[in-house]
Amino acid sequence: MNTRAIGIFDSGLGGLTILKAICRVLPKENLIYFGDTVNMPYGAKSKKAVTRYSLAIAKFLEQQHVKLIIIACNTASALALPQLQKQISVPIIGVINPGARAAAKATRNGKVAVIATEATVQSKAYLRALMRLQPKLHIIQQACPILAPLIEEGWVHKAAGQLIIGNYLKKIAKSGCDTVILGCTHYPVIKHFIARQLGKQVRLVDSADVLAAEVKKQLTEQNQLNTRGHGRLKIYASDDPLRFKRLAKHILGRELSKVSLKKLAL
Ligand code: DGL
Repeated sequence: MNTRAIGIFDSGLGGLTILKAICRVLPKENLIYFGDTVNMPYGAKSKKAVTRYSLAIAKFLEQQHVKLIIIACNTASALALPQLQKQISVPIIGVINPGARAAAKATRNGKVAVIATEATVQSKAYLRALMRLQPKLHIIQQACPILAPLIEEGWVHKAAGQLIIGNYLKKIAKSGCDTVILGCTHYPVIKHFIARQLGKQVRLVDSADVLAAEVKKQLTEQNQLNTRGHGRLKIYASDDPLRFKRLAKHILGRELSKVSLKKLAL
């Protein structure tokens, strides 16, 4: 039994889709979430910059004595995970491998598409993870550079937002892929729009459920589960906590009691 919290971070609100899954599977765990809203979007940044931000957040979480850190951001997982594992003493888990495992399991025709930020696509992290699992897969990638900011701004419901989403999905709709990885933790927020564009025959997968199940398994095996906790949640944002609180309500479906401002030591 270990009552220490689990640390979760993302560039902004997207990682709340992972937090939701963790709360569902591990309701007694205490959680600390960090949204690096001042540096968002990570998807348009260099590996050096994303690693610097991620390291600063991981150090902050380490100081909070978390027992595990979840990088609830595909971009940071793709670019910074190895460096973080080298420099941080707490175990760290990313979202790329769980997402790839979910897709490799879901596909029937062996054609998988990945939609993600520019940086995640350029890193080829999903390509490598999928090829390791099933070397014969046919994989296509599509970068959606302004999709995460569009979601943070709440623009997906507007006509311009719909047009942009349609444009990003054009190539995938024609590709014959039966499985699409939502390779950015912001995208599950608009899953229904994406499903509408691609049709029922296409399975949409993301890392959240597989990752939550893996975290539970890992903590159980290591005897680190919190079995008597009350699921306390602390949320930090590196910019405008009130805005974060307002937007988080749409993702979590409930009001957060408090979001604290925490400037990163970069
Ligand atoms: N939610 C993040 C991801 O999974 C990044 C979005 C961004 O900051 O560009 O990739």
